[in-house]
Amino acid sequence: MEADGGCRHGLVSLTVGGPAEQKELTQTPLLKIWVPWMGSSLNRRRGSSVPQFTNSPTMIVMVGLPARGKTYISKKLTRYLNWIGVPTRVFNVGQYRREAVQTYKNFEFFRADNEEAMAIRKACAAAALKDVAAYFTKEQGQVAVFFVESMCDDPDIIAENIQQVKLGSPDYVDRDTEEAMRDFIQRIKCYEATYVPIDDERDRKLSYIKIFNVGSRYLVNRVQDHIQSRIVYYLMNIHVTPRSIYLSRHGESELNLLGRIGGDSGLSPRGQRYAKALAGFIEGQNISNLKVWTSHMKRTIQTAEALGVQYEQWKALNEIDAGVCEELTYEEIQENFPEEFALRDQDKYRYRYPKGESYEDMVHRLEPVIMELERQENVLVVCHQAVMRCLLAYFLNKPAGDLPYLRCPLHTVLKLTPVAYGCKVETFFLNIEAVNTHRERPTNVDISRKPEDALQTVPDHI
Ligand code: ADP
Ligand code: F6P
Repeated sequence: MEADGGCRHGLVSLTVGGPAEQKELTQTPLLKIWVPWMGSSLNRRRGSSVPQFTNSPTMIVMVGLPARGKTYISKKLTRYLNWIGVPTRVFNVGQYRREAVQTYKNFEFFRADNEEAMAIRKACAAAALKDVAAYFTKEQGQVAVFFVESMCDDPDIIAENIQQVKLGSPDYVDRDTEEAMRDFIQRIKCYEATYVPIDDERDRKLSYIKIFNVGSRYLVNRVQDHIQSRIVYYLMNIHVTPRSIYLSRHGESELNLLGRIGGDSGLSPRGQRYAKALAGFIEGQNISNLKVWTSHMKRTIQTAEALGVQYEQWKALNEIDAGVCEELTYEEIQENFPEEFALRDQDKYRYRYPKGESYEDMVHRLEPVIMELERQENVLVVCHQAVMRCLLAYFLNKPAGDLPYLRCPLHTVLKLTPVAYGCKVETFFLNIEAVNTHRERPTNVDISRKPEDALQTVPDHI
């Protein structure tokens, strides 16, 4: 992963049987490696309120028996770190093993006394570590290590985890479910024979968080820097209770009709009809304890009002501030600020409107919203085009470059439901016509382009 200049920082994560084995990673049976970077080199044209991460690179080491959520946590944390601008990558030794041994027979492979298999597993661990080392560059200096140990002694949770993710793993393709379940339980037993948990006394100098029974208790030791404290805070806020998050833009606004961006107009007649349709849709979903959030802007508040339920207003959910371009059409931006228009097309994620915001700024201001969404259960977020793109990118693990072009049409609800290691998306168009506000990146993004090239992808409006 290449950063575009400046010093490179990051995190790496290894999953091992216990930190005592840190020096002997290649001998451990439970190795999962994952590497995040901290972003540092963004092209901030007008200064930045986005924090710079200056810590040394960090390697996060996942520790725990099988089916304790290590993969789940590493994928989720990686998604979060990437979204906040900390480039992160997972090195999962299980994956190396699956590539080395194409067909998995049974748990015997994981027995500590299976010398042939152990040799393969050590080779996989070594290969993963080599890749981790290559991921860091020499200039990065010392790597900080942070351990995340997940402990769980509740057999129901473990059985549920196996059911949810392990039976569908490539190891058990075309296997009888009960046989696979029995095999996985045996596999855990193999690991138990060699598993060394973090010892609070012996390992007191290490930096770690221990998570007990899916977050019913935590133990945090020697958090050393900003990134480690953010990791801890994040891990203490996530949960696995089934729920759905509903994302919707406000109903069509008067300014949407005119093709004008920003502003604080009310809903158009079609927008008002959407608000009523949304109320019917939400009622039909039979959602328990639904929380409804809006921005501070009229159009989201008017949309939520039609629901006839309590809602909470978040300033952080306000639409992107287009600064000097507020309330202009894209055509007027091209006419008055052609250079700015081209610069935005060149790097829409990082481009900051004069006296306004960039998508990157928005991700920064939406971080507390994401954290609260992680804490909550069922939530409907009534927001705006750019805001919805930022939130969606987080849940769907979309890279920054794609984020400003995610399709979030008006009068369409996206229902996000966590499944296995990701998120299922269902799209509901509520059958009320609305203007299209999505402008694709034109092919010509050169500053000296002709106006017709710049306006190539501007959607129709009145
Ligand atoms: P591992 O990688 O440790 O073998 P997985 O990540 O594949 O385990 O397990 C995924 C399951 O773990 C999911 O069903 C998820 O709900 C659950 N899970 C997530 N966090 C935790 C946790 N802290 N403790 C136990 N289970 C968890
Ligand atoms: O056009 C509707 C709108 O929500 C504007 O208020 C906002 O500036 C714009 O979408 C964001 O979309 P883009 O970043 O594609 O211009």
